[in-house]
Amino acid sequence: MRRSMLLSYMVFIMLFSLSLFAQQAQLLKIVAPSPTQISQENIVSFVIEADKSTVDLITITTDANATFNIQVNPNKTHYCKTINLHLGENIIDVAGYKSNTLVSEQKRKVFLESKVHKEYRYPPQQYKREYFHNETNEKVCASCHDMSVNEVKGVAFKDVTKSNCYQCHNQVASKKHAHAPSVNWLCTSCHNGKVGTFNEADRNKSKYTVPDPIGPLCFSCHEKNEEKWGDKRFTHEPTEAGRCNKCHNSHSEENEFYLRKDSWNLCTGCHKDKIEGMHIVKTFGRKAHPTHNVKDPSRPGKDLSCISCHNPHASNASFLLQSESVMGICSRCHKK
Ligand code: HEC
Ligand code: HEC
Ligand code: HEC
Ligand code: HEC
Ligand code: HEC
Ligand code: HEC
Ligand code: HEC
Ligand code: HEC
Repeated sequence: MRRSMLLSYMVFIMLFSLSLFAQQAQLLKIVAPSPTQISQENIVSFVIEADKSTVDLITITTDANATFNIQVNPNKTHYCKTINLHLGENIIDVAGYKSNTLVSEQKRKVFLESKVHKEYRYPPQQYKREYFHNETNEKVCASCHDMSVNEVKGVAFKDVTKSNCYQCHNQVASKKHAHAPSVNWLCTSCHNGKVGTFNEADRNKSKYTVPDPIGPLCFSCHEKNEEKWGDKRFTHEPTEAGRCNKCHNSHSEENEFYLRKDSWNLCTGCHKDKIEGMHIVKTFGRKAHPTHNVKDPSRPGKDLSCISCHNPHASNASFLLQSESVMGICSRCHKK
């Protein structure tokens, strides 16, 4: 008898919490992003569906304590907000209030991955890469946003705000150094919906996939570089593999040449053992040679870095040296 009472009590609690859950989901529906999303750019877009009769204020709070308040409007159904991410796991809280009382609270986790930060290269297992641009998802936005492609191949927008992609991705090309096709909003010159040997599994998952490796696509505009590097005896492994985007952001970046890190940190991220410059001494000297924090006599105004001596792409000299032969490298900076 007691046991069955306990059981029915438990069933009641379960049903009650289920109904609460269903009610919450109705009050505020997070259309995007998915619950555990992987991102490759430092931004993610929130789209929240809410109804004025049940919620009058939405707040979005990041784990870096940035808060955005959105007033719910009787004539609107969807609320959109782009949020900045930090590397790794971001936990973002979405709350709904009615007359100052909390009526709904949900979380979204977004993992900003990075190809050049070891600790953020592989997202924890719970994270998934969900693609957005398919017919089903786009239908929800189409009542307010023009979802078509309106770029003319090779013709830059005079007013970039007129690009249909700009409505939702306006921050993608806004960092200090920006790549020409991205600032001109010729997005589909790369996002052509094709896939390559490394992302074959993503075929048809999004209208705007990019082929991986992307090298051949880069060379379709940078023909001179292909000629120049193709002629060399040695090519740097990631360049040879066409993984240009390991080092270069295709959109924009704080560093020149849209590098994901400044060149010294970029190189040492994959070649940690070369930081001390002991490898240079091996053949030529007795003491460690500096690799940074001194001026580079061969590049006025710049600091010594790995690229003072090595070409990041290709070279005729072994070890990708910036000279025609290994012996020639020292005389670039040290006159006899
Ligand atoms: C009810 C109309 C409506 C619907 C439906 C809608 N949006 Fe929006 N969206 C807007 C408006 C209006 C803006 C301009 C900014 C503002 O006033 O909030 C906007 C702006 C945006 C932005 C830019 C936000 C920012 O912070 O710069 C993104 C991203 C966005 N929408 C994505 C979406 C996506 C994705 C969908 C479909 C899942 C969608 N929207 C559905 C009305 C809508
Ligand atoms: C209504 C808003 C909206 C418009 C318009 C829009 N996008 Fe997106 N797009 C999104 C959202 C939301 C995502 C998911 C990732 C995020 O939050 O940034 C996304 C993701 C992407 C991705 C990653 C692949 C995928 O499918 O998830 C690419 C590439 C992309 N958009 C390119 C474009 C291009 C190119 C255009 C213009 C032709 C465009 N988008 C127009 C909202 C929009
Ligand atoms: C030069 C080629 C190129 C151009 C031009 C380009 N992209 Fe990309 N984009 C890429 C590559 C490559 C990736 C894959 C991720 C990476 O390497 O960072 C990507 C990834 C993305 C993503 C997914 C980021 C994520 O969170 O997973 C979005 C969104 C996106 N691009 C939007 C755009 C928009 C909008 C434009 C136009 C302003 C644009 N791209 C122009 C090459 C390009
Ligand atoms: C649609 C054509 C197009 C594609 C595709 C393209 N680029 Fe570019 N890129 C340009 C243009 C135009 C410029 C600016 C003119 C210049 O300096 O060559 C530029 C400039 C650059 C620069 C700066 C060059 C400098 O001397 O300042 C780098 C680095 C670069 N691109 C890398 C890439 C990489 C990496 C890819 C592939 C992920 C790529 N580009 C794909 C058109 C393109
Ligand atoms: C290992 C990292 C790395 C990879 C991979 C890489 N780059 Fe670069 N790239 C750099 C660095 C570093 C610079 C800046 C060189 C400097 O400051 O002199 C640069 C400069 C450039 C420039 C401008 C200077 C020039 O030589 O014309 C272009 C264009 C370019 N890269 C395109 C590409 C393309 C296309 C690919 C893929 C085929 C690629 N890069 C792969 C690191 C890389
Ligand atoms: C994404 C990882 C990655 C980055 C970033 C990177 N490298 Fe490499 N590098 C490799 C790999 C992989 C190899 C081939 C295996 C090896 O020698 O370790 C290589 C090889 C080399 C070699 C030896 C080539 C030979 O023929 O012996 C040199 C020199 C080199 N890299 C210099 C650089 C410089 C300079 C930078 C910065 C512009 C850089 N690397 C950035 C991955 C990287
Ligand atoms: C002053 C010139 C100089 C600088 C600066 C320099 N290197 Fe080297 N590097 C060399 C020379 C010379 C060799 C060939 C050494 C040998 O003969 O074994 C070499 C060899 C290499 C090799 C291939 C040999 C091996 O042991 O794997 C890699 C990888 C490399 N350097 C990476 C780097 C990185 C990363 C940096 C920046 C932290 C850097 N180098 C800075 C001159 C330099
Ligand atoms: C890109 C320029 C550059 C190249 C190439 C270069 N060096 Fe240097 N080297 C420097 C700079 C800068 C210093 C630091 C000078 C200072 O401290 O004022 C230095 C310092 C030295 C020192 C003194 C070290 C000390 O701490 O007292 C020796 C020895 C040396 N280099 C040998 C070589 C040899 C051997 C090569 C060829 C493998 C070489 N360097 C290639 C720029 C270069």
